[in-house]
Amino acid sequence: MLEGYVVEPLPKHGTPADTVKQALQQIEVPDPYGHFARAFRGPPELQALGKWAFTEFMSDNGFFSLYAPYMQQIEQQVIAMGVSLLHPETDSTGNFTSGGTESNFSALHAAKEWARIHRPKARKPNVVAPFTIHPSFQKGARYLDLEIITTDLDADGRGVPANIARAINDDTIMVAASAPSWHYANIDPIAAIAKIAADAGVWMHVDACVGGYLSPFLEKLGEPIPPWDFRVPGVMSISADLHKYGYCPKPASTIYWRHAEYQQYHYVQVDDAFLGPYKMAGFSGSRSAGSIFAAWAVLRHLGEDGYLRLTRRVLDLKARCVRAIDALEGLKAWQVDVMPLHFHSEKAPTPAIYQGLLDKGWMMLGLVQPPAITVPLDPGLSDEALEHFLRDLREVHGRVIRERDPKTGDIRYG
Ligand SMILES: Cc1ncc(COP(=O)(O)O)c(C=O)c1O
Repeated sequence: MLEGYVVEPLPKHGTPADTVKQALQQIEVPDPYGHFARAFRGPPELQALGKWAFTEFMSDNGFFSLYAPYMQQIEQQVIAMGVSLLHPETDSTGNFTSGGTESNFSALHAAKEWARIHRPKARKPNVVAPFTIHPSFQKGARYLDLEIITTDLDADGRGVPANIARAINDDTIMVAASAPSWHYANIDPIAAIAKIAADAGVWMHVDACVGGYLSPFLEKLGEPIPPWDFRVPGVMSISADLHKYGYCPKPASTIYWRHAEYQQYHYVQVDDAFLGPYKMAGFSGSRSAGSIFAAWAVLRHLGEDGYLRLTRRVLDLKARCVRAIDALEGLKAWQVDVMPLHFHSEKAPTPAIYQGLLDKGWMMLGLVQPPAITVPLDPGLSDEALEHFLRDLREVHGRVIRERDPKTGDIRYG
């Protein structure tokens, strides 16, 4: 049991709603501290719209999204808006999921089903990917009895096509790469990797969970973003999270299929003798339809010009953050193609700076190898909150440099 928390069984008698609300209100994490952990919320008025749409449809069961016309229409509109950003084929399509983990799971599952027909000789199926592939692949592979073979990176933290080519064997069913990875926030050389996958006759998936709804707008603003979407021949599926830089309320992500034909490998229909055919949009059965309607509301409200406006804000926050970090002795912000931003210290132990920020109340994420601190930078982050964070960082950094034996923390991603 967590120290200081009282965990009790179901009370014999109910508690008045006001008392319940008061109890929950006490848990609220004060801004701006909570912001880092709850990043990707978007500006307050956007959050309010998403929350409103979510609560309006919260009690509707997304179980029926393939069947109930009002829900099917909204889900398909979300998919149509999202896929339009990816230079789709005329029959490209997708599915709404609960998050990046489920989107990547869906890609693994579809590839496994596809491989039964197209890679029949694969006896112990594996997936080849650069070392920075997100751990949701290892997790999905555990459920699906697949092996993930990871390959070494180049000096910038990008996958190396030749290493991928070398690792592919008769049991390989998929190659997966990131656009970008969370770890280095750099985009793998998708075009070269997809060509290797196509030549080997295996499924090619791009994990764009973190950047799928940011990179298209960075590119429109003139940032140098290498090709990673359906413009690249051979890319068969793409995962992209609405609840990251799409600024939609969680849980919300998308898995896109280059051709409608690939989506057929995603669906699982069980013909139950008693219930009849049982087929859902994805892995979940019953689910709240709230996040589907909220995503529709956010996408419709923002439109392309809204996303461009928020992308400019991300770039501005990033530039200010990089300047402030690099101005501190020994601190180094990493060069990243997309987001999130990471930094480390060359003068002091980075885990000690991480711990100092935690002690000040900031909920930080980080990387273990090499040790680094992650700053996702949400366009909803106010100027005051950013200044507050940078002030605390300066103070913690100065103290850690002065102290002989500073308290160090265990850096964590999750
Ligand atoms: C590249 C990448 N893929 C997948 C995921 C998993 O997403 P989720 O936490 O929404 O399941 C993340 C999460 O940060 C990610 O950065």
